[in-house]
Amino acid sequence: MTAELPQGEAKVKAVDAMFDAIAPRYDMLNRLLTFGMDVGWRRKTVKSLQLSPGAKVLDLACGTGDLCRELTKRGYRPVGVDRSAGMLAAQRTTAPLVRGDALVLPFRDTSIDGIVCGFALRNFASLKPFLVECARVLRPGGRMALLEVAQPENAVLRWGHGQYFGKVVPLVGGLLSDRDAYQYLPKSVAYLPPPARMVSMLSESGFGAAARRPLSTGIAQLLTGTRR
Ligand SMILES: C[S@@+](CC[C@H](N)C(=O)[O-])C[C@H]1O[C@@H](n2cnc3c(N)ncnc32)[C@H](O)[C@@H]1O
Repeated sequence: MTAELPQGEAKVKAVDAMFDAIAPRYDMLNRLLTFGMDVGWRRKTVKSLQLSPGAKVLDLACGTGDLCRELTKRGYRPVGVDRSAGMLAAQRTTAPLVRGDALVLPFRDTSIDGIVCGFALRNFASLKPFLVECARVLRPGGRMALLEVAQPENAVLRWGHGQYFGKVVPLVGGLLSDRDAYQYLPKSVAYLPPPARMVSMLSESGFGAAARRPLSTGIAQLLTGTRR
């Protein structure tokens, strides 16, 4: 892991401050920097849940609520949770939103049918406690779908993606939003465990049928599992 990346409480504080700062232009930059591909990735994330209409689904680290909107479209009952007051203030969803921590959820054991989480795993203080907390609130048979950035396996694509993510993203993000934040975002990929380890962590945390699917040549990934 890169030495300059913060850990523990310092990371939590830095992440909160960063998302409060970039909230007003977060959605616009997401669309721009992914060439709109994030819309399709969110659709696939929600589609992968395969729950009945009316199912109660948490969007953890919901930000401005993009996944909540997709969940509503699909007939689910979403509730968003996020730590950043700035991101919640910039919301664009009709779903109820709660300011809170995804690692300490204000929901009873086995009370939830589904969980989605978009682009936030690398921002959590620690990944395993998050997965264990998800397993606590999900009912047996409940579904989870986690969307994250990733690095392509293919060496050439990986190099090209590294140039774009490591150079173009900080440049454009710096010009249109916050320079420090868009320098940190590509670096924060270093927090993510290798793909196979993420799948085994899901399994160890109480999820069956744990799987990982690369999206768009592997620049994003979708992790799914069913609560045992
Ligand atoms: C990259 S944004 C993703 C927002 C949204 N899920 C999306 O798909 O666009 C990461 C979000 O994670 C939130 N976040 C980070 N750590 C969190 C935590 N421990 N609990 C709740 N939200 C958290 C941040 O405030 C931010 O809104």
